[in-house]
Amino acid sequence: MDQILVRGGKPLGGTIPIAGAKNACLTLMPATLLSEEPLTLTNAPRLSDIATMTQLLASLGAEVASLQGGQVLALSSHAIANHTADYDIVRKMRASILVLGPMLAREGQAVVSLPGGCAIGARPVDLHLKALAAMGAELDLRDGYVHAKAPGGLKGAVVEFPFVSVGATENALMAATLAKGTTVLKNAAREPEIVDLAECLRKMGAQIEGEGTSTITIQGVDRLGGATHPVVTDRIELGTYMLAPAICGGEVELLGGRLNLVGAFAAKLDEAGIDVSETPRGLLVRRRNGRVNAVNVVTEPFPGFPTDLQAQMMALLCTADGVSVLEERIFENRFMHAPELIRMGAQIDVHGGTATVTGVDRLRGAPVMATDLRASVSLILAGLAAEGETVVSRVYHLDRGYERVEEKLRAVGADIERVQA
Ligand code: EPZ
Repeated sequence: MDQILVRGGKPLGGTIPIAGAKNACLTLMPATLLSEEPLTLTNAPRLSDIATMTQLLASLGAEVASLQGGQVLALSSHAIANHTADYDIVRKMRASILVLGPMLAREGQAVVSLPGGCAIGARPVDLHLKALAAMGAELDLRDGYVHAKAPGGLKGAVVEFPFVSVGATENALMAATLAKGTTVLKNAAREPEIVDLAECLRKMGAQIEGEGTSTITIQGVDRLGGATHPVVTDRIELGTYMLAPAICGGEVELLGGRLNLVGAFAAKLDEAGIDVSETPRGLLVRRRNGRVNAVNVVTEPFPGFPTDLQAQMMALLCTADGVSVLEERIFENRFMHAPELIRMGAQIDVHGGTATVTGVDRLRGAPVMATDLRASVSLILAGLAAEGETVVSRVYHLDRGYERVEEKLRAVGADIERVQA
């Protein structure tokens, strides 16, 4: 089991390249199931979650070739040989549920293991299932699997989501492209990853309007073709690395970053005293005057403050001047980084979905444990600012969502290394 060692206190300087978005790639890849033609994704991130999705699609009979060191994925599913997504793959990555909509739309049948919960919450998929049922799917839940059928094909429907769900929007959007008639998704998620998926589906021949707004309208078509599509920049990796110079000083340029991907987050950083400016190549980030102001954070669906940046923001606020209040409104258990930050000397009180952080002068390095993807990177950020050495264990969580994190940070002057434990 690898560990990552960080020795803090050094200001950073230089450039960090930002990869393609994990959460866009994980919904673009299953789109191959909608068509017999080849789908090529460029700017793909090199992450273990992408490898897991590759394994899942291959188990269904799709072909996925990883080219140019994993930056290009050549996918094709002439025929779907197996309609069952097995638990032993699905349990490793919840996004596996995103094969349900496309497989059902193309084949009229799909058997997909219900994804378990995960560290940050129960993560039910009831909204995915309700949307597909509204489109005529017959769903039978048994033995931990969803057995879905649509013998005469799916039908267009009006689907009103009771609350915003990224994955349910993605599953319904993909399924609707081949449904007979018109589908309207109301209270749809507006994340850039949804916009990216819609743009790719449109290149494949889908008829979609309204992506990026709360109402998406899809006219079903008989079949979809192939496409070549670049994966959108990862706004969560971008936001994560924006916090590196914020937390330990210096100035870093994030290549590929654009303000429109991180609007609410950049505004909150500005409030905290961090300057973010667009350059021709990306975003330039540095502290305005050496100190960080306490700020309050509420996580919301896009375009609000992203839940996937809450843990990382908490690390910054541990050494801010004053008291910050972070409210986690998306997931029910997403403060597991707090006890680990407290081991490093942070002052954090967690009550239900609210964490109150009282800034301290310095954090102190300590052995800490990664619990989930974003919590683990918040511990790395805290280590960059802490006095002494921080040892982060269980870094396999990190590798799910961050390419070569120690290389990218070392390249801007961080004292960080990965060791075999
Ligand atoms: C996506 O998860 C992302 N994952 C998550 O990123 C991200 O945190 C989340 O969206 C919110 O932005 C991928 O895109 C692969 P939701 P998803 O459906 O689609 C509840 C990361 O770190 N809900 O928008 O699963 C759910 O439990 C990961 O990269 C239902 O109750 O999120 C949650 O509380 C973590 N029923 C809330 O809605 C459903 O049917 C939002 O979930 C679906 C969701």
